[in-house]
Amino acid sequence: MEFKIAVIKGDGVGPEVMDETLKVMDKIASKHSHKFHKEFYIAGGVAIDEKGTSLPSETLKGAKESDGVLLGAVGGPKWDNLKGEERPEKALLTLRKELGLYSNLRPCILFPQLKGACPLKKELVEEGVDLLVIRELTGGIYFGKKGTRTSGMGISAFDIEEYSEEEVRRIARTAFKMAGVRKKKVVSVDKANVLESSRLWRRVVNEVHENYKDVELSHMYVDNMAMQLIRDPRQFDVILTNNMFGDILSDEASQITGSIGMLPSASLGEKNFGMYEPVHGSAPDIAGKDIVNPFACILSFAMMLKYSFNLQKEASEVEKAVGKVLSDGYRTKDIFEEGRELIGTKRAGDLVLGALD
Ligand code: IPM
Ligand code: MG
Repeated sequence: MEFKIAVIKGDGVGPEVMDETLKVMDKIASKHSHKFHKEFYIAGGVAIDEKGTSLPSETLKGAKESDGVLLGAVGGPKWDNLKGEERPEKALLTLRKELGLYSNLRPCILFPQLKGACPLKKELVEEGVDLLVIRELTGGIYFGKKGTRTSGMGISAFDIEEYSEEEVRRIARTAFKMAGVRKKKVVSVDKANVLESSRLWRRVVNEVHENYKDVELSHMYVDNMAMQLIRDPRQFDVILTNNMFGDILSDEASQITGSIGMLPSASLGEKNFGMYEPVHGSAPDIAGKDIVNPFACILSFAMMLKYSFNLQKEASEVEKAVGKVLSDGYRTKDIFEEGRELIGTKRAGDLVLGALD
């Protein structure tokens, strides 16, 4: 089969994790006689430096015309003093919004090989952990009205959290459908004891649930969820939540997998089209040192194979190859334990290629 992939390496460790992922992409292509046409675009800090804007129009156009976007990471201290609209992160937010990618899937899977790297008590993760955080990605406080004004207390700043019924309805449908092919359990996370937007969220999730009665639904306040996740993650299957809470809870959940360096993500809309990126950011402090873990990006490519190209077998081959490298005892620095062999980014990519043979 043939696909057009828009590749955006971005900033910091983005290019390093992407280079390893592209090797894996080429390998899958040759092994299964697929054609992945890679088209390279810039976004984030590099684009600010080169073009004066974090998201050049060619990049947005190229992304729109592709069958899927693979993105490394954007941002870094060099651009930290820019105003909100001019920051590298703005590229990411505009891509998500413009491409209509409202469903962000963040699977938190603890590979059995990494149990030792998980900070939770052993008995809690003995059976493994397999959670799916579903984060609403194009609404809420990230995209609500924002600004500054002068009040009696000096200058004040505001960001509005607002959700429409339809925005909640469509992400709730995603969650129930995904849960339907898993353990059939959704917990919807909100702050309905305080926020009006959360009360609407909860009402609409309950309404949508009427059409998915085979899935069990419960609700939890976000503060309680932050606690329950580390008290006992075994109680959860699909965690459905808004943009802001999802950002925070997915970082928390990532630690259960041993490292945020293991977490892939998919951002989807109505069709098969999607954008795929590792959950970790640009990690400027370790960039260019051949130490970053490329597995999150490689596993994001596996998600692309699964969700955008419907290549289930190929996707599972990539996942198994990563598993094999771990089983063979190789660890990047973030997941290193005594008695294992420490490897760098490039070596990690090469070992995945070897495991694909
Ligand atoms: C994420 C990141 C982004 C977000 C940043 C880089 C804008 O933290 O994808 O989780 O907040 O969505
Ligand atoms: Mg985040």
